[in-house]
Amino acid sequence: MKIIVTGGAGFIGSHTVVDLLENGFEPIIVDDFRNSKPFILDNIKKILNRDFKSYDIDCGDVDRLRVVFEKEKPDGIIHFAADKAVNESVIDPLKYYHNNITTLVNVLKVVALFPIKSFVFSSSCTVYGVPKKVPVSEKSPIQPAFSPYGFTKQVGEQILKDFAQSNPKTAISLLRYFNPIGAHPSGLIGELPLGVPNNLIPFITQTAIGIRKSLTVNGDDYETPDGTCIRDYIHVVDLASAHVLALKNSKKQKEPLVVNIGTGKGSSVLEVINSFEKVNGVKLNYSVGPRRGGDAPSVYADNSLVKKMLGWENKFNLDDALKHAWQWEKNLAEQ
Ligand SMILES: NC(=O)c1ccc[n+]([C@@H]2O[C@H](COP(=O)([O-])OP(=O)(O)OC[C@H]3O[C@@H](n4cnc5c(N)ncnc54)[C@H](O)[C@@H]3O)[C@@H](O)[C@H]2O)c1
Repeated sequence: MKIIVTGGAGFIGSHTVVDLLENGFEPIIVDDFRNSKPFILDNIKKILNRDFKSYDIDCGDVDRLRVVFEKEKPDGIIHFAADKAVNESVIDPLKYYHNNITTLVNVLKVVALFPIKSFVFSSSCTVYGVPKKVPVSEKSPIQPAFSPYGFTKQVGEQILKDFAQSNPKTAISLLRYFNPIGAHPSGLIGELPLGVPNNLIPFITQTAIGIRKSLTVNGDDYETPDGTCIRDYIHVVDLASAHVLALKNSKKQKEPLVVNIGTGKGSSVLEVINSFEKVNGVKLNYSVGPRRGGDAPSVYADNSLVKKMLGWENKFNLDDALKHAWQWEKNLAEQ
């Protein structure tokens, strides 16, 4: 099966391309490298010694994307391409409404013209807002979004549910990711933040390697065992595997599949720091600062539905992810 992967040079997309190749799919990347680097494509090729096609275009450009579909005749699409920085979305909401919503609509305009069997969408646990109860199941209420970014994921899900009604030939999967971290065990691909990282792990690895002087823990007075926020950190290779399973499952689907992709285990910021120091034998310079507005004390997944529906399991734990993330950061420093 040929699969268009928008955003396939990005963090989650690149790991998914590897998994697609390993599972006999033919990925075709559509990415304009606005938040990634072309060398990632070469590194993906090195991991498996396999080639694949890629197109350096804005996937929201209907005319150019239609030409790609005409030429490649794909069977399915995984749509990763989006902007993802929560803070930036507050400062520049229109950028997010454009790339996360208008682009999605434009991609769907093209999908509607072709016999596409499966559409997998990158959603996020941000759709749950600050959950009243953990673990968070798919039945947990969708709460008012905290940021324009979170809102784009809620709207994106609704757009796809409406699209499914009018295009029953295309099976829709909405994967709600928890907190993807880590890197490929080969050390060849990983998270590549351009500028100041928004997520904890690249901040940790950049502090450890000396790009940043110190790491600030945003608050240690939350109602959690050690006072720091708890999140569900999922290894990106495990997250990637859920996309391939969703594609394989799509034949059986009668309605959109909506599933959490998380480990089901929460880890606090201090636990992550301690684990990073322990597995990598590195001391981190960090201090505790004030809370950051809008952070929920604790968010982790009820992942029973994805286990049941897709037979998905995570293979890596937090220590593995932190070991792989550090290996990737060290490799990047050598490039
Ligand atoms: N990383 C996370 O913490 C996280 C959590 C939940 C959901 N998500 C979602 O998962 C998806 C992938 O995230 P990621 O972490 O891999 O991000 P990323 O920025 O590493 O990858 C996104 C890729 O899409 C490309 N891109 C963006 N807009 C494009 C466009 N219009 N045309 C062509 N290429 C475009 C970028 O160049 C980049 O390579 C996003 O939709 C994101 O919102 C990410």
